[in-house]
Parts: sequence; C-alpha cells; structure tokens
Amino acid sequence: MNLRIGLARRDEAAAIAELSRELIEGGLPWSWNAQRVRYYIENRDSAVLAARDRRRLIGFAIMEFFEERAHLSLLAVLPGYQKLGVGKRMLEWLEASARTAGIFAVHLELRAGNDGARRFYERLGYAEKGRRRGYYAGREDALCMARDLKVTSAAGPV
Ligand SMILES: CC(C)(COP(=O)(O)OP(=O)(O)OC[C@H]1O[C@@H](n2cnc3c(N)ncnc32)[C@H](O)[C@@H]1OP(=O)(O)O)[C@@H](O)C(=O)NCCC(=O)NCCS
Repeated sequence: MNLRIGLARRDEAAAIAELSRELIEGGLPWSWNAQRVRYYIENRDSAVLAARDRRRLIGFAIMEFFEERAHLSLLAVLPGYQKLGVGKRMLEWLEASARTAGIFAVHLELRAGNDGARRFYERLGYAEKGRRRGYYAGREDALCMARDLKVTSAAGPV
C-alpha cells in the first residue's frame, strides 16, 4: 500500500458520501449526502480527510473544530484496508490539527452496536462518556466517547 493522507477535494464529496452510506449509515436514513460532505470540505472550521492508496480513495474522516473542543463526525476505512493502521493515521492527523489550534478535547458518537469501532477508539485513548437514546433517527442509541489530548497513555499515541 502506498498510503497518503490529505485534505479531500470537492470532487471527492460524492464518493465520500457513498462510502458513509455503505460503511457507517447502513440501515439508517442517509444523512451524509454529497451536498453535506461538500459543505464540510469548504467550511473553514472543519476538515475532511481522504486516505488514498495511489489514487484510490480508501478511507475518509470528518472533524469539526469548535472553540474548545473538536468533534469527530465520521471516520471509515474500506473493508479491504482495515486493521492496517489507516484509521489510526487519519485520527492522529486530525488530533494533531486540533492541538495546533489549541484544542485539547475530542468528542464523538458512534452506533451503540458498533463494537469494532468502540474497541478501535478505546485503543486510541478514547473513553466512554455516556449514551444518547435514539440518537440515530430514533432507531439506535449512540455511545459518546471523548479523549483529552493533554493526557497521554502507554497504549495510546503521543
Ligand atoms: C473503525 C475503523 C475506522 C478502524 O479503522 P482501521 O484502519 O481498521 O483501524 P487501524 O488499523 O488504524 O487500528 C488502530 C488500532 O485499533 C485496533 N482496531 C481496529 N479495528 C478494531 C476492531 N474491529 N476490534 C478491535 N480492535 C480494533 C487495531 O488493532 C489497532 O490496534 P494496535 O494499534 O494495537 O495495532 C474501521 O474498522 C471502519 O472503517 N469501520 C467501519 C466504519 C465505522 O465503524 N466507523 C466508525 C464509526 S463513525
């Protein structure tokens, strides 16, 4: 793999939206359509990352930056490329951007049934903070997780 991580281009919005529907929003109404993804690509207060193997889009992530916290809205890696460190690299890229902006708290929600993603985030230093009932279209709960970027652990990235 020739992994490159960088900001997504406007013309990648539709492909990212399709991957979100397929890999993250399965069984839920499609909320991250191309128009919404494009908005985040263009917005100064958010970053949309694309992970590419040569020219192929193999993963993406969206983070919003607020005054004192950042919110990870989406993160996914194509099934054939999972468990190879791509998700970790994207998250580290975004966390470094947050730190540079003087932001030291990252929050996220994930589908309560997504055990694999929960373990991934735990591995990267995120802790469970609570649960939001019916957060996903009234159909599924969300687990809320967060990481304090000032705290480093032996298991997590520095
Ligand atoms: C969750 C997801 C983003 C992880 O990305 P990834 O590229 O496969 O993860 P990485 O290879 O970077 O893994 C980083 C660490 O997490 C661990 N990890 C990753 N997936 C895991 C899983 N399903 N179960 C347990 N641990 C896992 C890895 O073993 C690795 O640990 P290590 O540093 O000790 O080796 C990916 O599985 C995915 O896209 N899933 C579908 C979409 C999704 O659920 N997105 C998250 C909700 S928005």
